[in-house]
Amino acid sequence: MNSFVYDIPTRVYFGENQFGHLGEELSKYGKRVLMAYGGGSIKKIGLYDTLMAEMNKFGLEVYELSGIEPNPRIDSVRAGAKICKEKNIDVILAVGGGSVLDASKWMAAGAYVDHDPWDFFSKWAPVEKALPLITVLTLSATGSEMDAGGVISNLETKDKIGRMDPLLQPKVSFLDPTITYSVSKYQTACGAADILSHIIEVYFNMNQDLYMLDCVMEGLMKTVIKYTPIALEKPDDYEARANLMWASSWAINGFVDGGKDQAWSCHPMEHELSAFYDITHGLGLAILTPRWMEYCLDDTTVSKYVQFGVNVFGIDPTLPSMDIAKRSIQLLSDFLFNQLGLDDTFTKVGIKEEDFPVMARKACMNETIPGFRPLNQHDIENIFRMCL
Ligand code: NZQ
Ligand code: ZN
Repeated sequence: MNSFVYDIPTRVYFGENQFGHLGEELSKYGKRVLMAYGGGSIKKIGLYDTLMAEMNKFGLEVYELSGIEPNPRIDSVRAGAKICKEKNIDVILAVGGGSVLDASKWMAAGAYVDHDPWDFFSKWAPVEKALPLITVLTLSATGSEMDAGGVISNLETKDKIGRMDPLLQPKVSFLDPTITYSVSKYQTACGAADILSHIIEVYFNMNQDLYMLDCVMEGLMKTVIKYTPIALEKPDDYEARANLMWASSWAINGFVDGGKDQAWSCHPMEHELSAFYDITHGLGLAILTPRWMEYCLDDTTVSKYVQFGVNVFGIDPTLPSMDIAKRSIQLLSDFLFNQLGLDDTFTKVGIKEEDFPVMARKACMNETIPGFRPLNQHDIENIFRMCL
């Protein structure tokens, strides 16, 4: 196993009644706040008023940027960076799901450059400085509240590109599970699929791993499998929402990586689906993941599936290895498509075969995704066809 650095510098206020700390945390960075949010859910649930009241208590000067889209666009980043420069913003408050948080991270970096923020993605322009970011998470899914990444879409070029930089890591995140009671069944299900995928992308790895981290990942996956159906059935179940929220952060905050450097596979493939069809990230991952698992299964990889099937789904370990592996894929599919109710094929969501070659080429950037099994354009097109 590889050596690694553990450094997760986001302070988390978890649970109910924590917004009393918001004013004090923002004030550490100055008076002028840009509050970024999405299409209005935060107003419907009263969160907007709560946060404004807290900021007023501390005499903060609040500017707003609303309407940040799911699969956030570079135009929103441009608009936010412009406000930061014009209003001399001291700190950004991102209130929303991963889309708002991701866009806010790149506004924070865009505030310090003269070039177009898209250059961060098209030219890999360096991130030398960024405004401090505080987040209020409203949807359990991406883990953006506790990681240093942000994924941005450009509709003109049909690109959706993710990039990480330590300077983008939120300083503070507020995680109040009650805020997620209003998340729709569909977004709850997509969020669960995303959390699971973040773990699966790391767990399915043939390198020698830390046993301890595999156990943590199995626990996180069992948590998602146990609590998502409860949250779907009873949206205001605190325990279910709390478990999903904390699992979303820990799935991708870097802890479970433990120095593994293998590339992720389903995420680059999914980003092309979202770039071309603007579909929900978690839905694309749900359709891809079981097919990718099927594609990668052979005698050299089967042991990982056995571990997964036995420890996560409780399959009888005395069965033949290949049977356990296939059963584990079936049980995962059953969870995603029957229990969560997500669409199970590209055909159902309108993704067409004619786009496979270009999406596959972009997913592997004309080379190979060095993942659990290396995937070239041909492999990716095969996996896409399995999803039809
Ligand atoms: O815009 P509003 O009105 O707020 O509605 C949103 C949006 O329509 C709604 N919503 C959020 N919280 C709600 C709520 N509705 C009711 N009650 C609430 N409490 O949910 C819809 C989807 O929101 P969005 O932020 O797009 O979802 P998600 O959190 O799944 O974020 C997806 C984006 O994050 C990227 C994805 O690619 C995608 O662009 N990712 C970011 C990652 C990261 N930063 O590390 C990693 C992930 O793998 C992922 O790629
Ligand atoms: Zn994801």
